[in-house]
Amino acid sequence: MFPLIRNRRLRASEAIRTLVRETIITPSDFLVPLFVVEGKNVKEEIASMPNYYRLSLDNLEKEVKELWHMGLGAVLLFVKVPDNLKDNKGTEALNANGLMQRAIKTVKNACPEMLVMTDVALDPYSSFGHDGIVGKGQILNDETSEVLAEMSISHAKAGADFVAPSDMMDGRILTIREALEDEGFINTGIMSYSAKYASGFYGPFRDALDSAPVDKENVPKNKSTYQMDFSNRFEAIRETQMDIEEGADIVMVKPGLCYLDIVREIKNEVDVPVAVYQVSGEYAMLKAAAEKGWLDHDAVMMEQLIAIKRAGANIIASYFAKDAVKLM
Ligand code: PBG
Repeated sequence: MFPLIRNRRLRASEAIRTLVRETIITPSDFLVPLFVVEGKNVKEEIASMPNYYRLSLDNLEKEVKELWHMGLGAVLLFVKVPDNLKDNKGTEALNANGLMQRAIKTVKNACPEMLVMTDVALDPYSSFGHDGIVGKGQILNDETSEVLAEMSISHAKAGADFVAPSDMMDGRILTIREALEDEGFINTGIMSYSAKYASGFYGPFRDALDSAPVDKENVPKNKSTYQMDFSNRFEAIRETQMDIEEGADIVMVKPGLCYLDIVREIKNEVDVPVAVYQVSGEYAMLKAAAEKGWLDHDAVMMEQLIAIKRAGANIIASYFAKDAVKLM
């Protein structure tokens, strides 16, 4: 075929490269994770996440207005809970006037059209740092799902548009969906962390929320009895299909970069929107390498984000959202 066909013709100038580009990224692709703390005028940088902050409600209000003006229209909320409010059952998670509930209202007041998603899991509230209730050295599945359902209702009452269960208990999507229907929250959506792997990449996030599993006797020191084994592939499809059958509106793969094979497979397999979470460790890795001058921050960031989208992501949860939009 050569020289009739020369693939380099389609790469000859920026104009032709732009014209034939298959994957582009826009502000509307992003879901912005935000960390909320108690207090006034707090903006604490997270040590392992340079240029990312824990915000008190007043600063959260400023932040969401800024995001909205940048074209970023969806946030995913996480709260850092004071130690004295933590217990095994996550009691504080159900407080109608708790930090999460106030954070939801703060965002909706500041920016009524901003889509608000909330993390639903017990870890920030748990004295054990686990996503579920601990009993006899195990993470109790069905008891946890019941609390997650109550938590979801509480978030919906406060005004959340979507709840995002990140715990990996079996059957929790169905339990949550039924509870929301029973309470009349028929339009509250569920974005399920469907294929969530037991990953070393969550370290900086656990620093941000001070939510790492505690090292106590009789309590598992990691999350491997509920989060997935990263050696497995078929299991991800099974988990995702089950979550859809149970009522998930959006499914998610997490982390991102090391799991793009899974993203593509799931995208080919299912017909609901697929979200990908580019997690805290992925953010930290690039920030650290860029600080050392070893990688070009912006170039590598865009390459990673495009790769996530090319793999099949419809939604990207990323700490790079603002950095990326500034380059657009
Ligand atoms: C809590 C939760 C975690 C993340 C999102 N929700 C941590 C964990 O499962 O230990 C991680 C996000 C990140 O690392 O950016 N269930």
